[in-house]
Amino acid sequence: MSVTVSYVLVADSMSTEGLRPLLDDPRIEVVQKKPSELDSLEDFVALVVRSATQVDEALLLRMPNLKIVARAGVGVDNIDLDAATKHGVIVINAPDGNTISTAEHTFAMMMALSRNIPQAYASVKAKEWNRKAFQGMELRGKTLGIIGFGRIGSELSKRAAAFQMSVVVYDPFLTPERAKKAGVTLVDLEDLLNQADVITVHTPLTKETKGLLNEETLKKTKRGVLILNIARGGIIDESALQKAIEDGHVGGAALDVFVNEPTDNFDLISLKQVIATPHIAASTHEAQESVASQVSYEIAQVLNGAPATHS
Ligand code: MLT
Repeated sequence: MSVTVSYVLVADSMSTEGLRPLLDDPRIEVVQKKPSELDSLEDFVALVVRSATQVDEALLLRMPNLKIVARAGVGVDNIDLDAATKHGVIVINAPDGNTISTAEHTFAMMMALSRNIPQAYASVKAKEWNRKAFQGMELRGKTLGIIGFGRIGSELSKRAAAFQMSVVVYDPFLTPERAKKAGVTLVDLEDLLNQADVITVHTPLTKETKGLLNEETLKKTKRGVLILNIARGGIIDESALQKAIEDGHVGGAALDVFVNEPTDNFDLISLKQVIATPHIAASTHEAQESVASQVSYEIAQVLNGAPATHS
């Protein structure tokens, strides 16, 4: 008896171990290529992406048999959800596979920023020995302001507690009971801006969160505040941040994400108070295997007739 094969296009680089549920299924054929490398996309019924591929209407029009788009990660901002709905395509993501990696990267960036580690590293590599130039700040006793208390924000608060930091949280969806249970203080945005020594954002990029930290809101922060964006480019207005650093109001920033990626905002990242990484918070073996396997299981299920869980 012949088996009908379902074609799955994996458009961005993905953990092979994580793709096992698809690679090992005899009813599924996986093609790992960018859409631009293929003449025809008509046979594909599933598409797997990270953040590099833009799933827009033009791409969906090239894939008339597409049933499901899977984002091996959390943010679905590179997928045109309205166009997917219009074309009857299910969109799924992997909501928790990279939580720990992202929380750990945030903490690593916070420590690197507060102790000037990248700057000191560059100086030693340049054969300098300048112990005076890199005086930092202890985290103990400082207030961490977390904007957005989902999975990542919550993991971050546990790590902050181990460093004896107090944590204030702004999240319109967080109940006082959950905040109490997590050992954090729920405040409004204004109070968070006034109180925090370090501010980190962990929200998706939406109409409501775009430019949440802007010229106005940055003015309300403490002088010398450290700011982190390990979530999505655009939640912090890049020119307002640059100005606040140049004015000496913001003490420094750690950025893993940018409005445009790869970033071309060298005016901002070349400031000595800014440290940056190229959107790698989720780039660990563990997280990549986990997100790829979460979406692979789900695609295999959907192609075999079961409903999607994370749509
Ligand atoms: C995510 O949305 O999961 C992260 O930004 C990581 C990624 O883009 O792969």
